[in-house]
Amino acid sequence: MLKSIILAAGKGTRMKSETPKVLHTIFEKTLVGYVIEAVNNTGFADENFVIVGHQAERVDEYIKNNYPNAKTVIQSPQLGTGHAVSMALPYIKEFDGEIIILCGDTPLITSETLKEFVEFHRNTKSDLTVMSAIFDNPTNYGRIIRSSEGKVSAIVEEKDATSEQKAVKEVNAGIYCLNWKKVMPAFSELKTNNAQGEYYLTDIIKWGNSNNLNVNAYTLKNNEEIFGINSKTHLAEASKLLNRRIIKKHLDNGVTIIDPETTWISPETEIAPDTVIYPSTYIEGKNKIGKFCKIGPFAHLRGGVVLEDYVKIGNFVEVKKTTIKSHTNACHLTYLGDSEIGSDVNIGAGTITANYNPLTKEKSKTVIGNNVKIGSNSVLVAPVTIDEGANVGALSVITKNIPAWALAITRSPLKVIEGWVKKHL
Ligand code: UD1
Ligand code: MG
Repeated sequence: MLKSIILAAGKGTRMKSETPKVLHTIFEKTLVGYVIEAVNNTGFADENFVIVGHQAERVDEYIKNNYPNAKTVIQSPQLGTGHAVSMALPYIKEFDGEIIILCGDTPLITSETLKEFVEFHRNTKSDLTVMSAIFDNPTNYGRIIRSSEGKVSAIVEEKDATSEQKAVKEVNAGIYCLNWKKVMPAFSELKTNNAQGEYYLTDIIKWGNSNNLNVNAYTLKNNEEIFGINSKTHLAEASKLLNRRIIKKHLDNGVTIIDPETTWISPETEIAPDTVIYPSTYIEGKNKIGKFCKIGPFAHLRGGVVLEDYVKIGNFVEVKKTTIKSHTNACHLTYLGDSEIGSDVNIGAGTITANYNPLTKEKSKTVIGNNVKIGSNSVLVAPVTIDEGANVGALSVITKNIPAWALAITRSPLKVIEGWVKKHL
């Protein structure tokens, strides 16, 4: 079995935020959440330890509520990455399996890469594998030092490196896989005799070599995966990178996305081929979109949205927790929330499902049958049902259920006074 240790005790000063760094989000999911899920999705891990320091209570509460197989461990004070890992020792003293170590602020790591990394570790019968990456500009990373035979002999931090070592472009990606029983003793032998006066996790490489362990490096294929977040600029960049990855997946699956640069699609959204997403569309949460739909421009799907085939969601339309059957259109300026909408329905411009009662703070449901036509600028005050085939006249406020095939209209009669304007000139 495999367990992970996720380092997340750093302060994240450069985020300039009251929120702990790893609780910042991309598409409503936290940075540490991405890392835990990447580990869990390998199918190898049964338990994750998240090392926390700064605002530990908040991170602990979040982890408890969201990830039942993760446990937070406090590191205070923070004396370095090696010290951080040793905080988990009391929980894994007897553990005889693999430990992978990662950072909580690298949300772009994928479970595919982690799987390949662990398989590499197993196939090479390694005791200690470090993930490396090749960077043209390796500044700030620890450098991977190899012997003349190409064996990994040590990791040297930038601050401790000679100019010759600084020229090395192969760096430590900060992800490790250890055969725990064999590497555990290293943690009681780490020293702080380095430029930063910290217990360096990276020193386990040298330790492994002096203790005749099989030490190897797996080289990361896509450097983007270890993009670490230290500032709001990094957070915005990582969001873009993740979004690009998602857009590419949909394009490869046959979805037409007119402008990948202004379209945002959350990781949990499924879209069938031949649907077209127009520019400036923002799709968050978990949604399922059928084929031949047209979404946007300027549409906002907020999660819990299920669209059957041939549905049109046009400009300035917001949809949340709503199921819409095939060939239904909501083309302009509309809010549809907590609704069930049939097929061949036309939702006129400016239609609002009034789903929220601000006094009771309750949300209620709107049910619209097949073939219903809702006139423009209508308000459907939930809970309300509009049965099959009914028509709602423009500018109506619907406060009770409308039976099938009826016309419902609340508009005051139109008055026309001939010649009125001329009389008032
Ligand atoms: C570390 C590596 C470096 C590697 C780089 C990859 C060491 C000594 N160096 O450097 O070789 O190239 O990561 O990104 O490990 N943390 C704690 N407790 C601590 C210190 C750090 O939990 O006491 C956490 C931080 O929150 C962060 C992670 O460990 O998530 C890495 O720490 P950081 O200070 O960013 O490491 P680097 O100096 O970048
Ligand atoms: Mg550091």
